[in-house]
Amino acid sequence: MSTSVTDVIERTDADAPARAEEAANDTGIQSFLVTFIIRRFNPEVDEEPRWVDYDVELYSTDRVLDALHKIKWEVDGSLTFRRSCAHGICGSDAMRINGRNRLACKTLIKDLDISQPIYVEAIKGLPLEKDLVVDMEPFFASYREVQPFLIANSKPEPGKERIQSIVDREVFDDTTKCILCAACTSSCPVFWTDGQYFGPAAIVNAHRFIFDSRDDAGDVRLDILNDKEGVWRCRTTFNCTEACPRGIEVTKAIAEVKQAVLRGRA
Ligand code: SF4
Ligand code: FES
Repeated sequence: MSTSVTDVIERTDADAPARAEEAANDTGIQSFLVTFIIRRFNPEVDEEPRWVDYDVELYSTDRVLDALHKIKWEVDGSLTFRRSCAHGICGSDAMRINGRNRLACKTLIKDLDISQPIYVEAIKGLPLEKDLVVDMEPFFASYREVQPFLIANSKPEPGKERIQSIVDREVFDDTTKCILCAACTSSCPVFWTDGQYFGPAAIVNAHRFIFDSRDDAGDVRLDILNDKEGVWRCRTTFNCTEACPRGIEVTKAIAEVKQAVLRGRA
């Protein structure tokens, strides 16, 4: 009987973990037993979150996301977390790993001290839904408020693009890299104590358009961010810059928006 493409894909996916393990054993790569202590919360049964230990066999090339998959697939299928791309692009698996906001898919086991347990918990400052999953709606509400899209008063000539010089593009290059993971906003002590604060990620995404030479609504966004819950709530603690998995200079972007507010223009 012939094998269809679908058969091959299904079998390949199902066998992948076992084959990866076999391959690693064949090449003599050493595995380690790593203890994870994960803050679990099931709103249907728990009144408070609780810490649960798991011992997981891993290779140094594995990532924290691989450990979470192993626990979910082999130990406890109820462990709940978000992830999609597994390659640092979608921004869905930000979590606190040993007290620091990071992406689970970008955190290699070899970069952690595995002689100690690794603590994993949900990001702070957003409502906890289950285990490592928080309600992202307040985060996206602030993002929507800064109008994170191009607003231009004129149309380009038919069949032409909106031309922008390399120099003009460079002004906001850094803030185009945001993947909306919320690692910055949920590491900000002002956001923890005042959920109304727009937060670093919303300001980063406002920056991306305020300084875009093709956009005509910079003054509208500056006005929005001149609010009491806007840029002036930032206390320049740099937590956001340290947390950003894309290496965006978040605090610098916030400072540039503050200066633009004072100038009254980008
Ligand atoms: S600025 Fe960085 S940390 Fe903040 S949401 Fe964007 S990618 Fe994540
Ligand atoms: S799973 Fe997409 S960024 Fe980590």
